[in-house]
Amino acid sequence: MTATKKLHIKTYGCQMNVYDSERMVEAMAAEGYETTEDAGEADLILLNTCHIREKAAEKVYSDLGRLRPLKDAKPDLRIGVAGCVAQAEGGEIMARQPLVDLVVGPQTYHRLPAMLARVAAGEKALDTEMPEEDKFDHLPQLRTPAAKPSAFLTVQEGCDKFCAFCVVPYTRGAEVSRPVTRLLSEARALVDRGVREITLLGQNVNAYHGAGPDGRTWSLADLIWALDGIEGLARIRFTTSHPNDMTDDLISAHGDCAKLMPYLHLPVQSGSDRILKAMNRKHGAAEYIKLIDKLRAARPDLALSGDFIVGFPGETEADFEATLDLVRQVRYAAAYSFRYSPRPGTPAAERPEVPTEVAVERLHRLQALLTEQQQAAQAAMIGRETNVLFEKAGRLPGQLVGKSDYLQAVHADAPESMLGRVARVRVTVAKTNSLAAELV
Ligand code: SAH
Ligand code: SF4
Ligand code: F3S
Repeated sequence: MTATKKLHIKTYGCQMNVYDSERMVEAMAAEGYETTEDAGEADLILLNTCHIREKAAEKVYSDLGRLRPLKDAKPDLRIGVAGCVAQAEGGEIMARQPLVDLVVGPQTYHRLPAMLARVAAGEKALDTEMPEEDKFDHLPQLRTPAAKPSAFLTVQEGCDKFCAFCVVPYTRGAEVSRPVTRLLSEARALVDRGVREITLLGQNVNAYHGAGPDGRTWSLADLIWALDGIEGLARIRFTTSHPNDMTDDLISAHGDCAKLMPYLHLPVQSGSDRILKAMNRKHGAAEYIKLIDKLRAARPDLALSGDFIVGFPGETEADFEATLDLVRQVRYAAAYSFRYSPRPGTPAAERPEVPTEVAVERLHRLQALLTEQQQAAQAAMIGRETNVLFEKAGRLPGQLVGKSDYLQAVHADAPESMLGRVARVRVTVAKTNSLAAELV
């Protein structure tokens, strides 16, 4: 179909939203839409939103407000809100911001074309159902070459863990694993389109338990081993994992599967057993450390990253010190840390909050330590050889940029013909967020 209309899509939040946005673009391409970076020339603007923290959710409303002049200039411009804010707030979004025509939750993107037809007929459209069917089975896939050699593939959605602070079980629904056969055929299609690296996604990716072609339930490790057999696929990653689902077969895969990259994002949130209990994380600090030891025994150069929440209700200075202690023991290569944000409908939102200035000060201390660790991990790369998958042109002429095995950004002088290929490089300069290297 030749494109006649233009779609602008803005993605907030996690990688699962990035994957969903790509699939929405593909679905809308089948409806005659091509994408545009410029919201000003769009016929349809979709915001694929995130509800994880208050700031993320409020950003959506300020961005929507800024679309007013576009809508005034072009009355048939359609504006839709998708993603986790759509799921959490539903019709309230249209009440608060009347220029929104359409609200669609994360599990019903395959119904977008039908919803747009209703909007074209002058209605407002709202769909936040969580249907039985898998949206991905009903979304078309493009056959054109992939834009990047690294792609996401959602294998598992939703969460049954109900951490006391988190909206995901409410916005994404119950945990569902996609069947193995579908995933392998999607992975093969990606590789045929030029993809060399696949990152398996799930809110709880290591809880994956999908229906296998042999009638068995497959674990994430089983799936990784099957992907390992796809010729042309060079690298496999997965994110995000929960410590309680880090099974022995997955730990050994980190030692035995050459395509599985030595990087693991394993959020712990806090180093205090008391706070972990209040968070409903269902493990303690010592168990987490033991797990890290096992992982490092399987793969000594494994780069670890994590997520932390500071200022969770009830967190004392001693609890916070326990988090710093855990960080010192683990030595993270990278990490994300957030000030606790009370979310409507979650159990922790009912509890008394830690004063803002206390939480802010703790966050600064934690981030200083995490930055120090990241810089140490980066500096340790100087003089070392590593592989890089070149993904795009660099800022300077003749330069390409890509990711190391450890997910570090690396730039090097390299011919354009090396785009989409894995090359061996030696690191020459280390900065906090990137490495410079030369081809070996
Ligand atoms: N499924 C993943 C994380 C999903 S959300 C896991 O279980 O670890 C990503 C990160 O956002 C979380 O790891 C947590 O650190 C942070 N987060 C979630 N809810 C939050 C809240 N209410 N306030 C602050 N940070 C939050
Ligand atoms: Fe949220 Fe916890 Fe589920 Fe992660 S495991 S998505 S933090 S409820
Ligand atoms: Fe945000 Fe939803 Fe992802 S709340 S982090 S976009 S699952």
